[in-house]
Amino acid sequence: MRQVHDHVLGIECADGRQAMREVLRMSPKKKADEEETVDYEDFEEGEADKEIVELGTEGESGIEVTDLPGVGPAIAKRLSEAGYRSVEAIAVASPSELAAAGSIGETTSTKIIKAAREMLDIGFETADLLLERRKTAGRISTGSTALDELFGGGLETQSITEMYGSFRSGKTQMAHQLAVMIQRPEGEGGLDATAIYVDTEGTFRPERLVDMAEPYGMDPKKVLKNVVWARAYNSDHQILLCDQAMEMAPEKNAKLLVLDSVTSHFRAEYTGRGTLAARQQKLNKHLHHLQRGAEINNMAVYITNQVMSRPDAFFGDPTAPVGGHVLAHVPQTRCYLRKSKGERRICRLVDSPNLPEGEAVFTVTKDGIRDV
Ligand SMILES: Nc1ncnc2c1ncn2[C@@H]1O[C@H](COP(=O)(O)OP(=O)(O)O)[C@@H](O)[C@H]1O
Ligand SMILES: [Mg+2]
Repeated sequence: MRQVHDHVLGIECADGRQAMREVLRMSPKKKADEEETVDYEDFEEGEADKEIVELGTEGESGIEVTDLPGVGPAIAKRLSEAGYRSVEAIAVASPSELAAAGSIGETTSTKIIKAAREMLDIGFETADLLLERRKTAGRISTGSTALDELFGGGLETQSITEMYGSFRSGKTQMAHQLAVMIQRPEGEGGLDATAIYVDTEGTFRPERLVDMAEPYGMDPKKVLKNVVWARAYNSDHQILLCDQAMEMAPEKNAKLLVLDSVTSHFRAEYTGRGTLAARQQKLNKHLHHLQRGAEINNMAVYITNQVMSRPDAFFGDPTAPVGGHVLAHVPQTRCYLRKSKGERRICRLVDSPNLPEGEAVFTVTKDGIRDV
């Protein structure tokens, strides 16, 4: 039963997703939006169930939660059940959240967080150390040299890159491309690592990973295994999956988290003007968690955001990306994608802490993202 549950709510390998799609193809009566009701036992005997992700009990540091002063097995268990499975996760928690999760007092939780931060050496540091850390940031190629140049050598780890643009501008194709490129060796556009893909719109297609891997002569089976995927069903689920992703990243050697898209559930769930503040607060917290995860795991976080094109829709400027000023302050790199003539796309770097504004033109082909 647990496996079925994991399939429904958890993260699975892209090849499992492929298997599911094949099952669906074999039963023509099932429509795409009925995917969730698939009989998961269909492929429990296959490869897919072996790939169910076990969440690790340790973070990158290797320090165990029970090594923290005041955390015995009982508290550790409660914290783990609430998602705090590593010293890293505890170090960046807020005292009230941790207190509630562990059924402990806030004074105790503050002490535990402080101890976790000391163990991990989190706190103020001098700029030279920060520069050293930034030098360890990796770059992921987009498949297009023009785009890579725009990004100063590719998408950077330790930070969030937001791609916003209208429907069919190429945001999802880029997500697939990055999930393939991350697996390439260092020096060949990748980081010899894996990807975690959180899909909120049901547009993840393992076939596209295979298409994009082929031109590089990569083994499609391996490429699929190196992408773990989950469908997020609402904003709370999305947040939970992203937190899980950050926790399992070290164990999976994941250096890329895709969140496609960050705003769709929030947009659907918070519809009235009166709900704006609550939505923005939740989004803000969500993005800050992603940011911390990106830094701790030396990971690139790629998030997409669909621009509203309906003038009657939503709050404020109808051409502005959803999420407005909250999103604007968290992602370090923000890009605006738009369609041009034919299959041409223009990517505009709107905001970056260390790169000049600029534009690059690329195209989406069967093989993936390419220069024009
Ligand atoms: N197999 C393919 N071959 C060529 N182009 C493709 C293929 N699959 C998707 N595309 C291109 O990608 C577009 C969809 O882009 P997508 O990334 O899904 O947009 P967004 O996520 O911004 O809404 C399609 O309109 C098409 O131009
Ligand atoms: Mg999309």
